[in-house]
Amino acid sequence: MTHHHHRVTLGGKLSAVLVAAGSSVGLGNIWRFPYVAGENGGGAFLLIYIGCVLLLGLPIMVAEFAVGRSTRRNAVGAYHALDRRWSFIGYNSVLAAFLILGFYFVVSGWTVEYTVHSLTGELARHTTAEEYASLFERFITNPWRPLLYTLLFILATHAVIALGVQKGIERSAKVLMPLLFVILIALSIHALLMPGAGEGLRFLFYPDFSKVTASTLLTALGQAFFSLSVGIGTMVTYASYFKPDTNLRHTALNVSLLDTLVAVLAGVIIFPAVFTAGIAPTSGPSLVFITLPGIFNGMPLSMVWSTVFFLLLVVAAITSTISLHEVITAYLHEEWHLSRRAAAWLTTGATALLATLASLSLGVLGGWRIFGLTLFDALDFATANILLPLGSLFTCLFVGWKLDPARLHDEVTNGGELRFRIYGLFIFLLRWVCPIILLLVFLDNLGLY
Ligand code: PFF
Repeated sequence: MTHHHHRVTLGGKLSAVLVAAGSSVGLGNIWRFPYVAGENGGGAFLLIYIGCVLLLGLPIMVAEFAVGRSTRRNAVGAYHALDRRWSFIGYNSVLAAFLILGFYFVVSGWTVEYTVHSLTGELARHTTAEEYASLFERFITNPWRPLLYTLLFILATHAVIALGVQKGIERSAKVLMPLLFVILIALSIHALLMPGAGEGLRFLFYPDFSKVTASTLLTALGQAFFSLSVGIGTMVTYASYFKPDTNLRHTALNVSLLDTLVAVLAGVIIFPAVFTAGIAPTSGPSLVFITLPGIFNGMPLSMVWSTVFFLLLVVAAITSTISLHEVITAYLHEEWHLSRRAAAWLTTGATALLATLASLSLGVLGGWRIFGLTLFDALDFATANILLPLGSLFTCLFVGWKLDPARLHDEVTNGGELRFRIYGLFIFLLRWVCPIILLLVFLDNLGLY
């Protein structure tokens, strides 16, 4: 059965960029990037990261766009339609989307809770770093409070998906993405006026290569793929709703630039504050939940700034959870022939269950370990370091070597209408550079040489 003819497309001209950027820009940029950069040498990491985005992320995003738009199917259906032996890339995508949502919804829930606590003034009631640490600890290990916020967030995501592609996904992106940029700019200006701004910017931009180790490349690569949302079929799914005249290369370039810009701005917002407060920038995942609230507290209008900051996280997170949810919903709808409504509810139910377990794994279920990791950490590790790079590797191999070259060229040039001057470079990156780097990084990670 094909859904080719009655498939919806996005309306406006900017919509392709906005929905795809909505997926890319998320907690990965604002929560994950600063602490990963902080642990890996700041400016040096940023350089390696940008290299990964341009040389690997960007071509793969174009490749995924081409797969999605040329088939107009969900991730599994798309690969199946092109060559059924490669359908496993689609299944890898659906699985990865499910596992990511398992921990991503949990962190999203925390951002809602922190927004509420900022608004009520609860966050401002504490003073010392220890108090903030124990507040966060108590909060994430509490059996039911984080669950409540997580479920709220899941239902909000569900509501957008239930409204459909145009009225839900497209419309929400058109409101939320501009809002996100307004908040980012306001917070950046505020950060640049802090006494620690110079030191913070120096840390973010000055490359300290002594912190770079073999695993830094894997970390940068995993972060780039996670942040751009590539290698996981989100871009395949979204591109299946693009219009025939959407310029795939420009869309991918704009999305990659916006995504990198947001990550850098998140660093610009966070590091000056961290250095102003005299705290080491290497505090890990808790950087924005423990370090920042304490810092905000010392400032005039602290309630306003911390509310706005956590609202930024909520906005960034929901446009990403929407895209992950859509990967699974579109798959269930088209491949299992469920109604879109039933598909959306099934996705919501299953991810709610996984997110509940992941949330509890930080508290009452903490004794339950997978390779020594809590379920929450295992989901993060397995997706960013294994499933996403693997999905990317096979996407390059498939699109670079297997896909009919005429079809690929036709798709990325809109039937020959657009000129693609560096097409040769694009193919070269896809065929050789991406797979070889991805393989080397894997072997290195497994300690095989
Ligand atoms: N790119 C999102 C972020 O940076 O937070 C996370 C994400 C969304 C990853 C969608 C993968 C994905 F398919």
